Parts: sequence; structure tokens; C-alpha cells
Amino acid sequence: MQTTILVENLSMVFNSNEGMVHALEKVDFGARQGEFFSIVGPSGCGKSTLLRIIAGLLVPTGGGIAVNGTLVVGPTPDVGIVFQNPVLMSWRTILGNVLLQAEVRRLNIKEYRPRAMDLLKMVGLSGFEDRYPYQLSGGMQQRASICRALIHDPSLLLMDEPFGALDALTRERMNLELLRIWRESRKTILFITHSIPEAVFLSDRVAVMSPRPGHIEEIVPVDLPRPRVMRTMETQEFTRLVPRIRRLLRQEGSID
Ligand SMILES: Nc1ncnc2c1ncn2[C@@H]1O[C@H](COP(=O)(O)OP(=O)(O)OP(=O)(O)O)[C@@H](O)[C@H]1O
Ligand SMILES: [Mg+2]
Repeated sequence: MQTTILVENLSMVFNSNEGMVHALEKVDFGARQGEFFSIVGPSGCGKSTLLRIIAGLLVPTGGGIAVNGTLVVGPTPDVGIVFQNPVLMSWRTILGNVLLQAEVRRLNIKEYRPRAMDLLKMVGLSGFEDRYPYQLSGGMQQRASICRALIHDPSLLLMDEPFGALDALTRERMNLELLRIWRESRKTILFITHSIPEAVFLSDRVAVMSPRPGHIEEIVPVDLPRPRVMRTMETQEFTRLVPRIRRLLRQEGSID
């Protein structure tokens, strides 16, 4: 299988006013085409930094990344990003925010409008198209930002704790929705989360990161059958994997 993301010997040192921050050290992993690959790790271990580097939004201080066989040297094309915070433009409507991604990519807006409406419907935001971000809750804003990341149908989706601000029920619904999108579109998804059960439920493999400077401690394969349904969480394999990953994080001296 072709490797979609290849990260080799990656390190990142930030030079800030308070001194040097060694965020990532010798990060190595590969995510296959069409794979659902999750990363769990303690707060501050460099997960968002890693995602920003893969997206080409940040230049690493060491090592390299290739996406679809091409070395990343600037913003990665054909990628959708869901950031930890929704970062919507306050002066644009929700629909305008979703369509922004299409505008930036010089796509035909008329063509993408129905798709934007469908995506908003899918995440339960029908009727909110003409509202402004401040009129929506944090969770609703985050759902809009997921639509924005999907509008141009990218083959690679980078998601940084996308469901962290959602209530438990909406989060479960979004997990199932995401799996459906992934299954139907065969996207490669790199998913960052603080929730071990969420990572196990969604993923083909879960990478466990160490505290800062972050590196990949272990990659755990998840051999649960698909399609995954809520009952998957009651299976023996699921209830075996979750504590195993929790133990790995504990060994690293940190757990949420
Ligand atoms: N632009 C920056 N300048 C200086 N330090 C930074 C910068 N961005 C991140 N850092 C530092 O790098 C480390 C990793 O940050 P990062 O946001 O990647 O962590 P994280 O694993 O995503 O944490 P969380 O789970 O809380 O979101 C932190 O110590 C952070 O303070
Ligand atoms: Mg983060």
C-alpha cells in the first residue's frame, strides 16, 4: 500500500522569549493511504505542532515529512484541516465560512454551495447557514469548521481534537458520521484526541506519544471489525485495548 504520510526523524525546537522549547524529538511514523491513524499523548507533548508541520504550516527544525511521496516544503495541497479551535471568520456567515475554503482554492462557488448545505445538514447545522459565528455555541462552531475542512473533498484530513468541545451525545454522533465519511470517501485521516476510547473506536492504529519533547512511544494496531457501531465499545477487544493504551501513557508519566 502506498504511504500517504511519512514522518522521519522529525524534531521541532521553538525559540521564544522565555527560551528554547523542545517540542518534538525524533518523531517517526507512516500513515497508509486510506488509513485512520490517531495520535494520543499528554497535553503539551507537541501533537498540534506535529499536525501543523504535516500541513506545511510550520517548518520543522530537523527531519522531514512527505505527503503522497512529495516532500512537504509549504502548505500541503489536497488537505483539510480541523484545528483545535474553530477559527471561523467573525464577519462571515456560517455558510460563508464553509465556502471560504472553496473560494481560496478558486473553485466554482455555485457548484460548491449545495455541497456546503449538505455538509451543514450532516452536522446538524441546517437553518444556521446565515448566522454568524458569535450566534453559535463553541460546539456548533467546531462542527462548521469540520464542514469547511471537507468542502473541497481532500484526500487527507488532519484533525486536531475536533470533538473536544462537543457534548457526549453529539460527540458520539460525530464519531459515527466521521467514520461514514471516511468509509465512503476513502480519505486518509490523521486524528488527534485526548480520549483513548475515541481513538480506539475510530482508528486502524493508535500512536502513543511521550511527554515533551514528544516522540512516538508505541503504535498500537486496532483489529476491531468494521463497520464500527456503538456496541463495538462493549466487545472484549475494545475493553482490552483501552486500558492497554492507558497503561502506555501512564508509563510515560502522564495521563489526563
Ligand atoms: N509558536 C510557539 N512558540 C513557542 N512555543 C510553542 C509554540 N507552539 C507550541 N509551543 C510549545 O510547544 C509545546 C507543544 O505544543 P503543542 O501545542 O504542539 O502541544 P499539544 O500536544 O498539542 O498540547 P494540547 O494537548 O494541550 O493541545 C508546548 O510546550 C508549547 O508551549
Ligand atoms: Mg494541541
